[in-house]
Amino acid sequence: MIAVEKRVVAGMPYEVRPIEPGSDAVIDAVVRMTMETVLTTIPEFEGSAKKAQATFANFTFPAMREMIVADFPKPTHGAAVAEATGGGVVGHVLFSRKIDPIGDLYGYIFSMWVEPEHRRRGVGTALLSAAVDALQTGYVRAETHASNEAFRQLARSLGFSVAERKQVHWPVNVMILAEPSPSAPPAGGGACSRDSV
Ligand SMILES: CC(C)(COP(=O)(O)OP(=O)(O)OC[C@H]1O[C@@H](n2cnc3c(N)ncnc32)[C@H](O)[C@@H]1OP(=O)(O)O)[C@@H](O)C(=O)NCCC(=O)NCCS
Repeated sequence: MIAVEKRVVAGMPYEVRPIEPGSDAVIDAVVRMTMETVLTTIPEFEGSAKKAQATFANFTFPAMREMIVADFPKPTHGAAVAEATGGGVVGHVLFSRKIDPIGDLYGYIFSMWVEPEHRRRGVGTALLSAAVDALQTGYVRAETHASNEAFRQLARSLGFSVAERKQVHWPVNVMILAEPSPSAPPAGGGACSRDSV
């Protein structure tokens, strides 16, 4: 797994840290939050897991858990959680290193979530910047539903911009931090093939 450095959220009672191996309750929370992310950021699903399954066959808790846990040992993948001081997990980010069609290494934000009652306190900023710092890639890419204004604003505040708008099953904003560049560092591992949700 890609190493993530612990960090506190400035002036707030939260810490961002890597996921410890074997922490089942934390992993369950990450799986639940990953599924919540899909259901709440893709309005076409209307909050229905059944509708999500029609597009993502593995959109069940056990299958999503298996997929997420299978990625943990890979040197190309990383994960971090945000915890409230003296409380539980309040957010997560999952990310990986991939190879673009030109052969350059880039970072990819796969999933990110902050529990609604902990939003607008800098937790999302801390999670996304922890992922960007850990990735150490020439550029970082994140894709989200075009209606997701909260993520677009958060990513913009860290220097991302909308590089492309595409229609897949729904309208998607492709957000990029830094320019893709031929001087990006060489690949550090195998390319991933999984598509975004
Ligand atoms: C997007 C998300 C992670 C942001 O988390 P957060 O902890 O609230 O983010 P922050 O507190 O660090 O916000 C940083 C900045 O982003 C922008 N922002 C965050 N939420 C916003 C919103 N709802 N509307 C407009 N701007 C928003 C603001 O500029 C904010 O700074 P401010 O609070 O000083 O105005 C959270 O809303 C979330 O979990 N959404 C659902 C899942 C999701 O969209 N995941 C990402 C796509 S995979």
